[in-house]
Amino acid sequence: MAISDYEIQPLFAEPYLRADIGHAISDEQVKYIKSLKMVTNRDNLISENLYIFEEPELLSIKVAVQEALDLFASEVMGIKQKLYVTQSWALTNNPNVSMHGHSHSNSLISGSLYYCDMPSPVANMIFDRHKTYQQLEINPERDKQNIYNTPLNVLTPKKNALFLFSSGVQHFVETNSSNQLRHSIAFNTFIKGKLGSYRDVSELTL
Ligand SMILES: [Fe+2]
Repeated sequence: MAISDYEIQPLFAEPYLRADIGHAISDEQVKYIKSLKMVTNRDNLISENLYIFEEPELLSIKVAVQEALDLFASEVMGIKQKLYVTQSWALTNNPNVSMHGHSHSNSLISGSLYYCDMPSPVANMIFDRHKTYQQLEINPERDKQNIYNTPLNVLTPKKNALFLFSSGVQHFVETNSSNQLRHSIAFNTFIKGKLGSYRDVSELTL
């Protein structure tokens, strides 16, 4: 007798937020970010200044990012506590440069902001379901791939797009196969407020 009555439901999910914050980014700010002193990272270039959202020139961007973080906290995480940006930095990937797989330590939610025109083709941001070495790689057949079993998922950057995602999720950036520079901003966040309960002696004020 074949089973005809069954269903598949999610137990948990890994969300990300995508927002357009073009209204908060001026041409002068684009010029300012592109003129920041860059130093060698592992393969790409990173701004020497690792707190760029503290610069008064970028205030409107910081405000828009905070608005998106407030949305993420209330609508995605469903919490009353506040997320705030810790470090923030600019990145440039030259042609033929990719960004190795990594996750962000000492951060809850991380973000990427594509503040200017992107190269064509744009190098995608790839998220990896697995955090650790996979001794067994049990991957679905292509035509059976879905949100429950895919090992990787792809976000395509676009000018003015802001992505927010869990800092612990591994991600990497494809090789820049264009002949243009690929610019972005990245940042980390932490949480402010009270966790736990005074009576349960689990209270923690951050
Ligand atoms: Fe990252």
